[in-house]
Amino acid sequence: MGVFGRVLGIIVLVFVLFQFIPYGKEKTNPKTDKTLKIKAPKNVMKLFKRSCYDCHSNETKWPWWSYVAPFSWSISDDVRGGRKALNFSIWNSYTPKKQEKLKKEIYRTVAGPMPLPQYIWLHQDAKLSKDEIKSIRDWASDGKGFIRTDVR
Ligand code: HEC
Repeated sequence: MGVFGRVLGIIVLVFVLFQFIPYGKEKTNPKTDKTLKIKAPKNVMKLFKRSCYDCHSNETKWPWWSYVAPFSWSISDDVRGGRKALNFSIWNSYTPKKQEKLKKEIYRTVAGPMPLPQYIWLHQDAKLSKDEIKSIRDWASDGKGFIRTDVR
């Protein structure tokens, strides 16, 4: 076996050993009171479901690679962090003040960092078009179409 074979063997071995690390194994979709779900116009809900729900709801679609380390580690981190920051499945349990703050953050993030680039990479259809971003922003600004995000 040449050097190449040995290196490949080590890589495969490490990859296999990764699978035994007990991290990122839990793929939960906690049962949630339906009355807590966000209610938004159909066109906006469609976009949230398509582009945000995998990380920002309790209705995550876990792809097969989310069961394979090391991908499982970062995916479960994204879902945990995403649900913690904003969970559309429990929207109605947030105070009005928190909802307003989140709407502002949704307004701000849909034109930039959200959905996360590494997610779009594997889910091309999650990418939002200009018009789709505008639909979400119209909703987030209660139809005004604009929110100043520099004032807190
Ligand atoms: C691949 C997972 C993923 C997807 C898809 C995703 N997000 Fe996020 N989102 C996160 C994570 C993780 C955080 C928490 C970031 C942090 O804590 O720094 C977050 C944070 C947020 C926040 C809180 C503000 C902030 O900057 O922390 C908002 C608002 C948000 N996301 C909106 C959206 C919207 C709207 C969509 C769909 C258009 C979306 N996200 C899609 C993972 C995701």
